[in-house]
Amino acid sequence: RTVDVAADSADLGHYRHYMQKEIFEQPVAIANTLQRVIELGCQSALFGPQADELFAAAPAVRIVACGSSYHAGLVARYWIEEWTGLPVSVDIASEYRYRKGREQDGTLIIAISQSGETADLLAAMRSARERGDVKVLAICNVPHSTLTRESDLLFLTQAGLEIGVASTKAFTTQLVALYVFAAALARSRNTLDATQLAEITEALHRLPVLVEEVLAMDSKLEAWAQELAHYHNALFLGRHTLFPIALEGALKLKEIAYIHAEGYAAGELKHGPLALVDEDMPVIACAVNDELLEKVVSNLREVQARSGKVFLLAEPGCEAAHAGSHRVLTLPVAAGPLAPVVLTLPLQMLSYHTACRKGTDVDKPRNLAKSVTVE
Ligand code: G6P
Repeated sequence: RTVDVAADSADLGHYRHYMQKEIFEQPVAIANTLQRVIELGCQSALFGPQADELFAAAPAVRIVACGSSYHAGLVARYWIEEWTGLPVSVDIASEYRYRKGREQDGTLIIAISQSGETADLLAAMRSARERGDVKVLAICNVPHSTLTRESDLLFLTQAGLEIGVASTKAFTTQLVALYVFAAALARSRNTLDATQLAEITEALHRLPVLVEEVLAMDSKLEAWAQELAHYHNALFLGRHTLFPIALEGALKLKEIAYIHAEGYAAGELKHGPLALVDEDMPVIACAVNDELLEKVVSNLREVQARSGKVFLLAEPGCEAAHAGSHRVLTLPVAAGPLAPVVLTLPLQMLSYHTACRKGTDVDKPRNLAKSVTVE
């Protein structure tokens, strides 16, 4: 793929909103973010000259971030734990900064931020440095930001300028950067064999095309949005790496469509949210064909038994989850460990069209700012 300069332009072109344009720029934003990765493979050199040594010696990983960037961190925990065995914790920056605690020397602090200027995130990073001899890896979209200046290691996402307040291409490129980080960390620590590493890297090559194919489902999500716009509440469910994607889907719907939405780990349904489920509660569920599919199916049965309307987004091979669902959308192909990236897109499109239907200010939702530079 060639680099498309449009990804950095403030020109709306034929799009109605910046958010819509930015959703459709994701194949290019992801390809641009992966450019050096495709040349070099998933390796520590992508994060800085000192990275290999720091990656090999780290006793733990702590991720700090706000908003959608925090959700990206929650997804990354699954990849890092599975591929490296290292303990990983993920903290909301505004909580971490006021918590008391120590960090083990050598801990890698992963600070994720689109803008690199979020006040709580910067404070959390500075506070981490006072808690131990830690090293900060910044995952950031703005090259000359406070975060990039103060970090020890750096990976720049190449999302280009993002104008819509709700994060779209910044979020998916953060996921891609974190996936590459998890694989590079495993490589430095020798926790995966060459075949596993090759498979993980290979999956990235197909990603921009996969994302493009999912964007082609836009009109189907627009049809779902016509229905969703009539509700006052919605529940988003997922398991494993799709649990944080459920949180992100709910955040998008709240932010731009002003519909109260909650994201839940599907296994938590019976610990509270099931009490809310009736015919007025749409449930947007994400499913992939993995060892947890059966569990997701039984969670959906619980919803259907209470007349909840299930809108299912699934990869091929999830037919067991189709029965009883109100609407089903099957993605063209399975994305393996990259499923959280791919399944983010339909949720973005769903929120976007719901917001359009409701006539909200999509790019500048009320009360929100693109970058929160004060506490
Ligand atoms: C604001 C934006 C969100 C973003 C969050 C964190 O709330 O509206 O889209 O995820 O800040 O911003 P950052 O620049 O640190 O990623």
